[in-house]
Amino acid sequence: MTQRKILVTSALPYANGSIHLGHMVEHIQTDIWVRFQKMRGHTCHYVCADDTHGTPIMLAAEKQGITPEQLIERVHAEHFADFQGFHIGYDNYYSTNSPENRHYSYDIYQKLRDAGKIVSRTIEQLYDPEKGMFLPDRFVKGECPKCHAKDQYGDSCEVCGATYSPTELIHPYSAVSGATPVLRESEHFFFRLGECAEFLRDWTAGHSTLSDGREQPHLQPESLNKMNEWIEGGLQDWDISRDAPYFGFEIPNAPGKYFYVWLDAPIGYMASFKALCDREGLNFDEYFKADSSTELYHFIGKDILYFHALFWPATLQYSGYRTPTGVFAHGFLTVDGQKMSKSRGTFITARSYLDCGLNPEWMRYYIGAKLNSKIEDIDLSLSDFVARVNSDLVGKFINIASRAAGFISKRFDGKLAAQLSDTSLLEALTAPAENLAQSFEQREYARALRDVMALADQVNLYVDANKPWELARQEGMEQQLQQVCTVLINAFRLLTIYLKPVLPKLAEQVEHFLNIAPLTWADSQQLLLDHTIQPYQHLMQRIEPKLIEQLIEANKQSTPTVSEAAADNYEPIADTIAIDDFAKVDLRVGEVLACQYVEGSDKLLQFTVNLGFETRNIFSGIRKAYAEPEKLVGRKVIVVANLAPRKMRFGVSQGMIVCASGTDDSSGLFLLDVDQGAQPGMRIG
Ligand code: MSP
Ligand code: ZN
Repeated sequence: MTQRKILVTSALPYANGSIHLGHMVEHIQTDIWVRFQKMRGHTCHYVCADDTHGTPIMLAAEKQGITPEQLIERVHAEHFADFQGFHIGYDNYYSTNSPENRHYSYDIYQKLRDAGKIVSRTIEQLYDPEKGMFLPDRFVKGECPKCHAKDQYGDSCEVCGATYSPTELIHPYSAVSGATPVLRESEHFFFRLGECAEFLRDWTAGHSTLSDGREQPHLQPESLNKMNEWIEGGLQDWDISRDAPYFGFEIPNAPGKYFYVWLDAPIGYMASFKALCDREGLNFDEYFKADSSTELYHFIGKDILYFHALFWPATLQYSGYRTPTGVFAHGFLTVDGQKMSKSRGTFITARSYLDCGLNPEWMRYYIGAKLNSKIEDIDLSLSDFVARVNSDLVGKFINIASRAAGFISKRFDGKLAAQLSDTSLLEALTAPAENLAQSFEQREYARALRDVMALADQVNLYVDANKPWELARQEGMEQQLQQVCTVLINAFRLLTIYLKPVLPKLAEQVEHFLNIAPLTWADSQQLLLDHTIQPYQHLMQRIEPKLIEQLIEANKQSTPTVSEAAADNYEPIADTIAIDDFAKVDLRVGEVLACQYVEGSDKLLQFTVNLGFETRNIFSGIRKAYAEPEKLVGRKVIVVANLAPRKMRFGVSQGMIVCASGTDDSSGLFLLDVDQGAQPGMRIG
């Protein structure tokens, strides 16, 4: 078999938030693939790093009263420990704030300049005069120009879904200081992506020929379609500079100008690999020179395809480096069918999972059993998680060892039979090795694990047919017992090989128990005979459902870590007002007489509200939070009764129903209540 040389990455997590199970999907997916390649005897390096630059990290550090360097150092330690806890086997976990990354960022920038791919242009951007900084879109908020919802981000409205530029917001304010931003000119550097359309059209649709002769498409079919849409829609030049104050790399010969975080982040892959090369004496150029015959793969989430399938290949191509062999995008993790949510306790951090005493290999198995090569979202159903792990891993797999090992230890001094009279079961387990390998190779883990569990089912049928516990009770069946138990131990060993990319720690325990060298894929073609094994010690517990309750509770109550709290970025308290200002707002108790969906809108509910003295028609954007409008009939709500009526596509809205909400969708929307006895029409104040 040709020995391949492969470099693999997972996306670099931002250094201002905790690692959660969503990140874990990606790193588990990558780690399974890397471990599989290593088991196949290929040279495979796996690097990652924290993505440390940019405005949010700079501001998070400031809020905590520390330097960005202090923040990213602490977070690096946390992230690394979280990933280690889930047995993610990086060869290097680095930081984008490293000398190697500075070196390659300068190098690539210089080469792009020399190739005529960088231009400078003066642009106008919103500036916070109080804070003295330009504001990224997400740090400008205001009223949506389309639907007039308040407090929307500078790039899109979460109520009506409109996208716009931050200068279009009505009554914009800076999310940093609250000040009204002003337009200000500044010189920016652009990467001329518009000129790369020809190259990108070819690259995105292209293949690489691997050293073993196979053709590897650069993108998955779904990604290719998306990229085609973007390319045909016209590629804009890419703004790669930001003005001080900024946490990042200052651009050479351009004082006060910094590389935009997304320029140096993917270069962080190279930098992390360079540090590994220096440490282990590997040849960096062999992997990154333009005509490299090595393979380079990026595992990423679907939200960052644009950067990895357009900007990054173009950046590499025009700075004279090799381009990726494949970009593998995955979907997003949902929990019980919904977006992870802090209020429901389903925004599950990696740390809480480990601290609650859950076995990381349970999650590795469950996620593995759901992953394929497509860009589909994957759902963690908590009850299915418990059922699946308990029935597959413990019930079907671990039990094989526990049923056979005791007899081998007690009756045969730990010794397996020297020969087997019937190897038909083991042949059935050896034969699919190559098929299973193809499934792992193609990232069809769900298929691989389904097939492995079907093999485990066959083994369990063999157990039921041969009943070792009965043989053990019968006179003169010693040899038969040793035969059956030797078959079972071998079956267990073969299944362990196939599961090893997914369950590396368990495989290590099995190797110890079987008293053998680390298992490789090729070992699936041999049997273990005439060999002494160690006494069996229990390998894996069942999941107690109570643990899941504790996990959800822990994520509900957990006071966010300092870095999380900063990332959460609560709405700042508004400017002080006088009592007269408040009196201008006429809040009334209303009673919902009718409530229904609005045809053609997935955001709105239409209310008929009794205000005591009159009835109002009010549209409210809370459908997501209240999916069953009929249940709202009869309840009391609080209405802004003197709000100017607003003409909407669906009719006139005569007032507003007030709601509590956080800063993003996932925090939910909550109608206000009033105590028993309050009557429609009563004033609030
Ligand atoms: N820092 C950038 C990546 C730079 S790569 C040169 C970034 N960081 S991130 O922390 O927001 O996300 C890191 C990775 O985790 C991304 O690939 C993202 O798609 C993935 N995920 C984040 N939330 C996720 C889920 N809920 N589910 C699955 N993957 C998720 O983007
Ligand atoms: Zn809107």
